[in-house]
Amino acid sequence: MTDRYAVFGNPIGHSKSPRIHALFAAQTGQDISYEAILAPPDGFAASIDAFLAAKGGPARGANVTVPFKEEAFRLATRRTARAEAAGAVNTLSFDAGAIIGDNTDGAGLIRDLKNNVGCDPAGRRILLLGAGGAARGVILPLLLENPAELLIANRTEETAARLALEFARLPGCAVDVKPDGTGFAGLDGRQFDLVINATSAGLGNAVLPLPTSVFAPHCVAYEMFYGRETAFMAQARAAGARVGDGLGMLVEQAAEAFFVWRGVRPHTAPVLAAIKA
Ligand code: ATR
Repeated sequence: MTDRYAVFGNPIGHSKSPRIHALFAAQTGQDISYEAILAPPDGFAASIDAFLAAKGGPARGANVTVPFKEEAFRLATRRTARAEAAGAVNTLSFDAGAIIGDNTDGAGLIRDLKNNVGCDPAGRRILLLGAGGAARGVILPLLLENPAELLIANRTEETAARLALEFARLPGCAVDVKPDGTGFAGLDGRQFDLVINATSAGLGNAVLPLPTSVFAPHCVAYEMFYGRETAFMAQARAAGARVGDGLGMLVEQAAEAFFVWRGVRPHTAPVLAAIKA
């Protein structure tokens, strides 16, 4: 019997995940099905229940996207340490009545930076823009790479300060660097080697009030959003930065989920190339 997987979101029509996982399955010879399921705004848990109960092969796992990652966190009966740190779940595994919640977004970003973008976070001065769910999910993975510094800058300064403090106090986490938090005004005169946009400003194409000086020579600017050139990408390019978007992170977080479920790590480069084309 074919093991069943699905991605749940709203909207979900344009999700690339079914295609990505189909390519992974073909490449690794895994017998799985993977579909996209539109869950109603107030019906995420019911949609998961229906998926578990549906006829066919056993339901083994699910990916979760906007706006259900926090609800998936609460639905999980067990959670990995990286899901706990992120406060959100994008990967569920179903195992004999247990629902295990994981988060592969941060691992996806790190793998994309290292393997596809060619920008190892180790030793770099990193600026993380935004203090919402997307930013939270990548803070611990970035710290674990031993950057020279990590500054979180947000439109609402207090949110950035609170988030930085929370991660600086993380129990049992031996990292050398403690993150700092600021508002955009606090960026004057500062320079960074890697600038990551985790705000949702890209969706509305809002321009972030960033001083040009934040982009150090040889800086890499990474937009977590993908699909089109955002104001942030244009801003960074004009300042001389090398620019990447979140498509690689999408493929890499999917590969990490595939590994969690199947114990096999697919090669991402040919899949990323196919998705780009
Ligand atoms: P997500 O899960 O995508 O991170 P979120 O939790 O709603 O979504 O967080 C959105 C983030 O984008 C926040 O950091 C928000 O800044 P505020 O905390 O000040 O609201 C940021 N953001 C959204 N629109 C923005 C804009 N036009 N300019 C600057 N920051 C923006």
